[in-house]
Amino acid sequence: MERKELLCEIKRLKKEKNAIILAHTYQPAEIQELADKTGDSYALSKFCADNSEYDTIVFCGVHFMAESAKILSPEKKVLIPEKDAGCPMADMVTAEQLREFKKQYPGAVVVTYINSSAAVKAESDVIVTSSNAVKVVKNIDAKEIIFVPDKNLGSYVAKQCPDKKFILWQGYCPVHNKMTVEAVKAAKEAHPEAKFMVHPECPGEVVAMADFVGSTKAIIDYAASLEGGEFIVGTEKGVLHPLSCDKNAEKKLYHLLSEELICEDMKITTLESVYRCLKDETHEMILEKDVIENAAKALNEMLRLAEK
Ligand code: 13P
Ligand code: SF4
Repeated sequence: MERKELLCEIKRLKKEKNAIILAHTYQPAEIQELADKTGDSYALSKFCADNSEYDTIVFCGVHFMAESAKILSPEKKVLIPEKDAGCPMADMVTAEQLREFKKQYPGAVVVTYINSSAAVKAESDVIVTSSNAVKVVKNIDAKEIIFVPDKNLGSYVAKQCPDKKFILWQGYCPVHNKMTVEAVKAAKEAHPEAKFMVHPECPGEVVAMADFVGSTKAIIDYAASLEGGEFIVGTEKGVLHPLSCDKNAEKKLYHLLSEELICEDMKITTLESVYRCLKDETHEMILEKDVIENAAKALNEMLRLAEK
């Protein structure tokens, strides 16, 4: 099918099935343009919790994101266009491992990054995203925190919460964790006027060199809040698309910190796979009832503590 025809069919099927298309900001530009809503993990999961008028959600992102949508909207059909779009960091902890680990720290609160499987979320007390992790953890009424799975986000949060003791799981994002001090120094030398914006999934020594630290949405909002300027971008390449859509974009110049900042799992979604997903209703997120219930408790606890 030609591109134009594909776009028309997607639009028709969306209407017929009362469906909405959500896309994370790391998705390919044409998928972000196709989506009804784009955002970071927090914005998209909040959207699923707040909007009940759609019967079907097509989630263009990675597996854990579509699972989160299902947990927050269990009555809806949640589909992911590419069933193999996973998150290697989420795969670094299993529910079984976490269950065993928790036994060593009976008084600790388990804080789990949204980049985790539904089964791991179901073993957790509260979920966080990179947008709200610091605020949520500050609002937890406990002194000991088990932070799962991202050691980099965990140590970033720990620095902002010196009154709490952190036990960090040793997971990481293979894309962000590759960023080095040398790469930042080289980028700063090449672009001395540029502001360095970074995602907290990068190693601590890289984060320490940043002018701004935040989730994908926070990075986009920060750049948008400035009239113009030059920026070094320390997160996945997909954010260059929303950054370039800002109304003052012609007064801004963006340099990706490294060409290695590409999450392959995020890039496999295509117009064809979105079309197939809507037409054949593949691949549906099916989760066990008790996993949904327990994971929903932890996700709703996040929403409550983030709004406090
Ligand atoms: P955000 O929470 O900023 O959307 O990031 C998700 C992610 O997968 C980062 O690698
Ligand atoms: Fe997972 Fe990293 Fe890809 Fe985000 S960028 S989805 S954390 S592998």
